[in-house]
Amino acid sequence: MTDTGHLEQDLEALLQIENFPPPASFAEHARIHDRSVHEAAAADPVAWWAEQAKALDWFTEPTTALDDSNPPFYTWFKGGTLNASYNAVDRHVLAGNGDRVAFHWHGEEGEQRAVTYADLHRDVQRAANALKARGIGKGDVVGIFLPMIPEVVVAMLACARIGAPHNVVFGGFSAESVHERMEVSEAKALITVDSARRKGKTAPVKTTVDDVMGSLDTLETIFVVQHGGGDCPMQDGRDVFWGDALAAADDECEAEPLDAEHPLFILYSSGSTAKPKGIQHTTGGYLTGVAWTHKHVFDLRPEEDVYWCSADVGWITGHSYIVYGPLMNGTTSVMFEGAPDYPHKGIWWELCEQYGVTLFYTAPTAIRACMKWGADLPAQHDLSKLRLLGSVGEPINPKAWLWYHKVIGGERCPIVDTWWQTETGHIMITTLPGAQYGKPGSAGTPLPGVYAAIVDPDSGEEVPDGTQGLLTLTRPWPGMLRTLFGDDDRYVSTYWEKFGPQTYFVGDASKRDADDGYVWVIGRVDDVLNVSGHRMSTAEIESAIVSHGKVAESAVIGQTDEDTGQAVCAFVTLEGDLEGTPDLEAEIREHVAQRIGKLARPKRIVWADDLPKTRSGKIMRRLLKDIAEGRALGDVTTLRDPGVMQQLQGKIAEAQ
Ligand code: PRX
Repeated sequence: MTDTGHLEQDLEALLQIENFPPPASFAEHARIHDRSVHEAAAADPVAWWAEQAKALDWFTEPTTALDDSNPPFYTWFKGGTLNASYNAVDRHVLAGNGDRVAFHWHGEEGEQRAVTYADLHRDVQRAANALKARGIGKGDVVGIFLPMIPEVVVAMLACARIGAPHNVVFGGFSAESVHERMEVSEAKALITVDSARRKGKTAPVKTTVDDVMGSLDTLETIFVVQHGGGDCPMQDGRDVFWGDALAAADDECEAEPLDAEHPLFILYSSGSTAKPKGIQHTTGGYLTGVAWTHKHVFDLRPEEDVYWCSADVGWITGHSYIVYGPLMNGTTSVMFEGAPDYPHKGIWWELCEQYGVTLFYTAPTAIRACMKWGADLPAQHDLSKLRLLGSVGEPINPKAWLWYHKVIGGERCPIVDTWWQTETGHIMITTLPGAQYGKPGSAGTPLPGVYAAIVDPDSGEEVPDGTQGLLTLTRPWPGMLRTLFGDDDRYVSTYWEKFGPQTYFVGDASKRDADDGYVWVIGRVDDVLNVSGHRMSTAEIESAIVSHGKVAESAVIGQTDEDTGQAVCAFVTLEGDLEGTPDLEAEIREHVAQRIGKLARPKRIVWADDLPKTRSGKIMRRLLKDIAEGRALGDVTTLRDPGVMQQLQGKIAEAQ
């Protein structure tokens, strides 16, 4: 039998196993061995979190752990002052760990840079002074649109040092998205790059940003990191090269003592309307949450471990588990500029071997891609240093879990499946790897200090174990978002109106096992898509499609996809009697890439004469999903024109 045949058989056998206890070799040395920490937290969750906040260096100690007098506007660690960049860098240098590598950066073409804590300390201070020199100070929003290079960390920490909330935009978004996010956050400066490299090609970034940024008068400065090379026009008075600004800046910049509730950053994420939400996180609570979870969920030993989170800094996973969590704990991390399949499909495993990675954190979609590429690629590398694996972003299907466990983890690494959101700031539901078994497909239990309930959508009452309901969080936690930037009303209506100001509405369906309380997160219940672990809004994509001159109307759904979890499928009706053609399809996809970014391009476009609507004109996306996924149609009698569905079914059949 072939090796692949053996692997298939082994995975089938593993599928029969329900629970995977921590291997003895792991549990013996783990930071946490039992559930006593959950119990300790349950005795007094607020006091327990206050205890965890002591892991940070405070300039002034907090006086009140939680202020819940004005729900849902909760505050944590009132009276305390601290600085995120001081906690990320200075204190490690002061403790004599300046020579420790913070990031082993690995470039697309194999370049290597070891960035120590002392390097970060120097560059962050210079960068903070460079920002100040351009009139940026406490409370001014600074946009960051950079690829995966060490400068992105320096830029974020420099903002944090002076109390300027950063607003990072993922490098895969379009310049138009950057413009929108800079406009709504009234950013005073943007830090970007000349050009970005992707799979051996270099794409201009600064010039595309210039094309759309002209009209923004709040934006006084554009800093340009020189990285990919190429032509880079600079506008006099506005544009400055990052390298020149740092070279001209003074090396010393005291970290500003900031209130615990001072906004550390805003990060735009997709919701159920076309307008992205500026999720706002603060300093003291957020850092407490990311520091504790990073250390204990990943069982981190900063002196020995080499940690790698394969996400992009532009997403919350990057903010919390590439930058702030790891740096709070003095971690040595790998940072990789490139794609998982460039220069070859075994590059991740090559890097794990090269840097001796011990803790590896990635997304199910990446694991599924690696499964497709075959187990012989990881087999060519020594992965024996790995001791723990993590997953985030979407539910992990048991087959991918088992492949990860067997092929990458060599059956000796616990897997932590971590459920959380941009809004929660840090991991909320998972297993503590030395204390709890893994159960493929279930994230685990709420962490110590985190409380969840699964409730009936109508009554808000808890549903019986084993029954699907809506996931809610029932107590405030330190890393929670505090509001949506400039929009308290939307904050309340999105998260706190459905079940009242004490119950946070997550937006995910889930169920819980009766015997051990393990939670299974099933997926979003709102119009939010999850494509390769990237969160996108159907409304945002629809509005991009409709802005194309030939389109009359569009409805977008997330079609189940074996590689990406969900894929964007767009039903499109055209103006007048225009006919859908492959050229027009390509045009619309390109249009969406321009408006939002390549990641939002529909994988599939279905031309429709009309869309199924209720009598009140609401598009029935559920029916479109049934059609796209080839299911029998449910009740169509509420439709204004049930004939629309037959027509659409005909179209789908034709296309196949
Ligand atoms: O639906 C859940 C899914 O991703 C959503 C949050 O997306 P975002 O804010 O972009 O943050 C992603 C990274 C933290 C959630 O509402 N999700 C995230 N992690 C998991 C998950 N679904 C199931 N299992 C997970 N481990």
